[in-house]
Amino acid sequence: LLYCLSPKNLEGKKVLVTAGPTREHIDPVRFISNPSSGKMGYAIARAAEHRGAEVVLVTGPTNIPVPLNVTEIRVRSAREMATAVFEHMEDSHIIIKTAAVADYRPGEAAAHKIKKGADEKVLTLQKNQDILKELGARKKDQILVGFAAETQELEKNAGEKLVRKNLDMIAGNIVGESSGFETDTNQVTLFYRDGTKEPLPVMEKDAVAHILLDRIIGIKN
Ligand code: CTP
Ligand code: CA
Repeated sequence: LLYCLSPKNLEGKKVLVTAGPTREHIDPVRFISNPSSGKMGYAIARAAEHRGAEVVLVTGPTNIPVPLNVTEIRVRSAREMATAVFEHMEDSHIIIKTAAVADYRPGEAAAHKIKKGADEKVLTLQKNQDILKELGARKKDQILVGFAAETQELEKNAGEKLVRKNLDMIAGNIVGESSGFETDTNQVTLFYRDGTKEPLPVMEKDAVAHILLDRIIGIKN
């Protein structure tokens, strides 16, 4: 139904979407990650495809089947995600970064399973590249959209990310019961470059995706 009703207003556009968590391996059998399900990113990829866009979806590990007619690139770590994203950035008209990228990775992943030993163990972490910030620095005429999941001070935190990463729009949400990582619904507030914001009600992620695309198309025109 959503397919039939979707306006074909992204025909001829290339849309790059990222989804899911990243995994930062400590050793071959252990990693640092987060509970992102990938649902929001996949919903955006499907919605963009329904509107006629050519969609590339760069995704961390998820359990969601690849949407029809979407080019899926599966990655694991933030570094793999960065490589895939930068490879496709110049071709893309619209880039939407939904992925929950790990901010840090273990300094060095062990080649073999780490054996249990001392009572205390220290794990040293190294900062990952901020992919979205790099996209913002390199962007020419692409529309760049980010997400910000916060536990407090949504407006301040999302607003700062919008400016710091040179985005056209950011979708912020307070992580909660009907909103966030593993749910089918989300409650987001959209923040724009002119300082305005648009709070949306709790909605299915598919519906959030379509509103997001409507607003992006609005920015472009
Ligand atoms: N992001 C990214 N690369 C990273 C970290 C984040 O591309 N290494 C992107 C996310 O995909 C998201 C946006 O930046 O679209 C905001 O992510 P978030 O974790 O909320 O912001 P950070 O800048 O990492 O700040 P912090 O975690 O300290 O709040
Ligand atoms: Ca982060």
